[in-house]
Order: sequence, then C-alpha cells, then structure tokens
Amino acid sequence: MKYINSIEGKNSSAVVLGCMRIGDMSDYEMDRYLATAFECGYNYFDHADIYHNGRCEEVFAKALKRNKVDRDKIIIQTKCGIREGMYDFSYEHIINSVDKSLKRLDTDYVDVLLLHRPDLLMDPEEVARAFDELEHSQKVRAFGVSNHSAAQIKLLNKYLNQRICINQLQLSITDCGMISSGAGVNTTFDEGINRDGYIRDYCRLHDITVQPWSPLQYGFFSGTFLDKVRFPDLCAVIDEMAEKYNVSDTGVAIAWLLRLPEKMQPVIGSTNIDRIKEIARATHVEMSREDWYKIYRAAGHILP
Ligand SMILES: NC(=O)c1ccc[n+]([C@@H]2O[C@H](COP(=O)([O-])OP(=O)(O)OC[C@H]3O[C@@H](n4cnc5c(N)ncnc54)[C@H](OP(=O)(O)O)[C@@H]3O)[C@@H](O)[C@H]2O)c1
Repeated sequence: MKYINSIEGKNSSAVVLGCMRIGDMSDYEMDRYLATAFECGYNYFDHADIYHNGRCEEVFAKALKRNKVDRDKIIIQTKCGIREGMYDFSYEHIINSVDKSLKRLDTDYVDVLLLHRPDLLMDPEEVARAFDELEHSQKVRAFGVSNHSAAQIKLLNKYLNQRICINQLQLSITDCGMISSGAGVNTTFDEGINRDGYIRDYCRLHDITVQPWSPLQYGFFSGTFLDKVRFPDLCAVIDEMAEKYNVSDTGVAIAWLLRLPEKMQPVIGSTNIDRIKEIARATHVEMSREDWYKIYRAAGHILP
C-alpha cells in the first residue's frame, strides 16, 4: 500500500475502504475484512450516518473492539447532512448527527467529518458554529465536504474557521466528467460541458484531496464497468493493461485513478477479500501516460 497524505499527523493509505456495504456482514466476515485491511496496509475507513441507517458504523465499531484495534492508529471518516427526503446542514442536525455517529462508532472522536451533499437551504454561519463547537470539543479533528462544487466550497470558506481538506466526488473511468470537461474546453462537444464547477482545478489549487467514490461503478450505482458483455472495448484494454502491469482488472481501474497527478484517494466499496488485496497491490503501479490515455479513449471519451 502506498500512503499519500497526513490527516492530523496520521499517514493515510492511498485507497480508503468505504464501509457503505458492510451493514449485513457477519462477525466472521467483518473479522476477515479487517484482518485483510490491516495486512494490506489500509488505515482509512469511510462511513456516513445514513449507511444502513447507522448499522454500518455499529458493525464496524463492534469489529474494532473484538479485534482490539488501536483506535489512534486508524482514520475514521463519517458524513452528515442527508435526511429522509431532504438535506440538512442546520447547526442542530450536524451536532446531533455527530453525537449519534460517535455513539455508534463507540469512539470519542472522528478524524474527519464530511458534509455529505450540498443543502439547498444551507446557512454557512450555522455550519461554522457547528464546526467550531465540534473542533473545540475535540469530537472532530478535520473537516471536508462531499459532492460540492468550487463555488460551494468558496462560500463555506468565507465563514469557516477550519480548512476543507477533502472533497468526496463520484469518479471512475466511465464517469469522469470532472476530468473530461478539461479536455473539451472551447468545443461544442458534450464532453466540454462543465457540470462540476471546475472542481478538479479548484481542489488542486487549494490542496483539497479528492476522494473518488464508486470508482468501479458506472452511472448511479448501475453496476461495475468491469463487465465484459456491457463494456467489451474498455474491458479488452483493461485486460491488456492487467497483463502488462501484472495486476487484476480491478487493480487497473484503481491505478488509472491513482495516475492522476494530484494524488486522488479512491474510496472502494468492495467487501471481497481478494479484490481488496488486488487493489492494495495496484497502488504501486506506475501507469504510463500512453496507457492512461488508451484506457480513457477505450471508455468512449473523446480528445477533440
Ligand atoms: N460521498 C458520497 O456521496 C458517496 C456515495 C456513494 C458511496 N460513497 C462511498 O464510496 C464507497 C464506494 O462506493 P461503491 O461501493 O459504490 O464503490 P465501488 O468500489 O465502485 O463498487 C463496489 C461494488 O462493486 C462490486 N464490484 C467491484 N468489482 C466488481 C467486479 N469485477 N465484478 C462484480 N462486482 C464488482 C463490489 O462487489 P464485491 O463486494 O463483491 O467486490 C461492490 O458491490 C462507499 O462504500 C462509500 O463509503 C460515497
């Protein structure tokens, strides 16, 4: 495993283990999952208050306890702000959500708190008050956002006393508008349409780590693009690269994201032990420029 940056003094694994799909795992499966994670060098775990209605945080905390994991050696990230039928960045909701997550996670603090999706009714002064309180009470060590545009982060920055250090965004080989729009500037091609408010450039300029979520999926949880029937051209090129770099197809898909020079930190959702191991190995792949572009084009993206 490669390590990329430091969150409050803890080095973070280049790939994050996303815990959205662990809610139904048995104790035995969770123990194997954690053992594999540590054996491979993962130390960063992504949660949200809403995953399985909080069950993912509970299952995770019980597994940490059973396996006597040193809390201070791992990075736990959680999110708040999504409620049934609405988004909510009110002071009360943020504070209550963190308190409930801490209880479920059975810990005194989370390393990172993300605002999950932009609340259309957000009052940034309320967010600032909540963040100040969470920082002063030492319940949260670092702050970030998810699915936010550059302008939305700028607005928050005007009021916050804390640095936004993470932006978690949907990004994969097939769903990479935030990257491909950069190649289509000043064209009439659809790929030139910027839907993300220049978020890639903004994050680079401000040293905000982008965490690609659903890095193996296409569409909105539509399935994986590592499906040879649905994506024959892309999978053929990925298989060729898998052979060349001596990693699995899954490994190639993650190595493609890690090749982006700003050091993105993919959040993988697999609970499959073999895939988790393959991805850790792939963090050492140094993909050539030619191969990166070959995969990009095989996914149907154009270069004007
Ligand atoms: N911020 C946000 O708005 C947001 C939204 C969604 C998710 N997230 C975070 O991102 C994490 C990752 O999301 P995700 O789970 O959608 O990501 P993902 O890693 O793209 O997808 C994982 C899913 O794909 C399956 N899969 C992977 N490779 C496969 C293959 N070759 N063949 C068949 N199935 C395959 C996995 O099954 P196996 O378990 O069998 O490998 C798992 O069900 C989540 O856990 C969560 O932490 C954040």
